[in-house]
Amino acid sequence: MSEELWKSVDRYLVDHLVPFDPVLEEALQANARAELPSIDVAPNQGKLLYLLARIQGARRILEIGTLGGYSTIWLARALPVDGKLITLEIDPKHAEVAAANMHGAGLASIVDIRIGHALQSLPRLHAESAAAFDLIFIDADKPNNPAYLEWALRFSRLGTIIVVDNVVRDGKIADRNNSDPMVEGARKVIEMLGAEPRLEATAIQTVGSKGHDGFAVALVVKP
Ligand code: SAH
Ligand code: DHB
Ligand code: MG
Repeated sequence: MSEELWKSVDRYLVDHLVPFDPVLEEALQANARAELPSIDVAPNQGKLLYLLARIQGARRILEIGTLGGYSTIWLARALPVDGKLITLEIDPKHAEVAAANMHGAGLASIVDIRIGHALQSLPRLHAESAAAFDLIFIDADKPNNPAYLEWALRFSRLGTIIVVDNVVRDGKIADRNNSDPMVEGARKVIEMLGAEPRLEATAIQTVGSKGHDGFAVALVVKP
């Protein structure tokens, strides 16, 4: 199956299921103007994140990896007005673009962007004795995914949903000999999800406008 076909199917799905949204479109354009890489989730994936958060009745969301905040807008829109989304971003330029996008989306009061290496922001957040999150989206530097999953468990309660993006990497995850740290991070996190008794998890490979990749979804089933 060709990449052109994946793209045209994504176009068809998005045309019918993800109505044109000027705020999301403007966020993507602002990202492009600032020359951010276009590695945001696809529109239909963004809507899946939104639906998961709605199904969950989420009030508190943690995101690791903001970029320009495209996925952040999708997730934050699932929250009630008194909800909270904390998103962690290492690159101050990305965070600045994201902050402007949150203003444009009317979400600045719900979204808290924290600049710094997530492995420094997470302990800081923990020291604030932040309450558990209802949904956690892991989408930053892939080699640190195992560490992010451990932090996600620390910030979870029974029933928390954990989503990990980019776990398939063009199918390279299935190649045991591939030692690319991005691929190893993806593989390790899948193995942790499978071995962790507190979680029930699955993963789905995706093809579409963003190529061949996948995401994992886990539910915290034991404290
Ligand atoms: N979630 C976004 C895409 C995130 S891309 C969306 O779908 O719209 C990954 C982001 O993680 C990039 O902006 C990158 O700068 C950031 N990142 C990379 N390493 C990081 C780290 N150690 N801590 C926090 N953020 C990091
Ligand atoms: C990359 C990161 C992502 O979050 C993504 O969705 C696609 C690619 C990357 O760093 O290459
Ligand atoms: Mg991603």
